[in-house]
Amino acid sequence: MTVTLAFDVYGTLIDTQGLVTMLRGMVGDKAAEFSRTWRERQLEYTFRRALMQNYVPFSACTAQALDHTCALYKTPLGPDQRTALLDAYRTLPAFSDVADGLALLRAAGFRLYAFSNGTAEAVRTLLDAAGVADLFLDIVSTDDLRSFKPNPAVYSHFLRMAGATGAETWLVSSNPFDVIGALSAGWRAAWVKRSPDALFDPWGIPPTATVPDLRHLAAAIAG
Ligand code: 2OP
Repeated sequence: MTVTLAFDVYGTLIDTQGLVTMLRGMVGDKAAEFSRTWRERQLEYTFRRALMQNYVPFSACTAQALDHTCALYKTPLGPDQRTALLDAYRTLPAFSDVADGLALLRAAGFRLYAFSNGTAEAVRTLLDAAGVADLFLDIVSTDDLRSFKPNPAVYSHFLRMAGATGAETWLVSSNPFDVIGALSAGWRAAWVKRSPDALFDPWGIPPTATVPDLRHLAAAIAG
């Protein structure tokens, strides 16, 4: 059986905390906390918009979450700073294990896809900047359905696009809500737990496998 791997992008391949150094020059010591809140608010906006069926692209959720975070921390940014942050978000860095890990999986014969809330164009820009775009067969975006993870419809859409079944497909994600979304849709799912402090939701729906980084994934799937 050829196994299809659907890689979540933001937070799994790409480090959404990658702008903390830049933020420190704008919001000072609160930079790390600010960055985490920005990400949490961005995801909250995607959940709410998917539920309300009131879609805007992921980049708009990111921008609106930034504005909300600035108001919350009482740290107004100038228009140039705001533009600079949102531009930098388009080329956030990849985690250090990503290039090696993906190359190993590709060489081992897995079918690799990127599967994201980001538009295909935004994801392509990130994967190009990380130098890993060529390792993927394709990019599947929830934008096709004008919705977001973990709407069950986006997991079905991925299977249709990849020509795969849930039984032969693994989601690979650091985001517990995404792992639970894929498991609930009948897929396997690997949770990439890069930090020992990362928490999984206590819903009684555990990941099929948990790995510390992508270089351990092939063994975990075989396992
Ligand atoms: C992604 O879809 C959930 O942010 C995550 O790339």
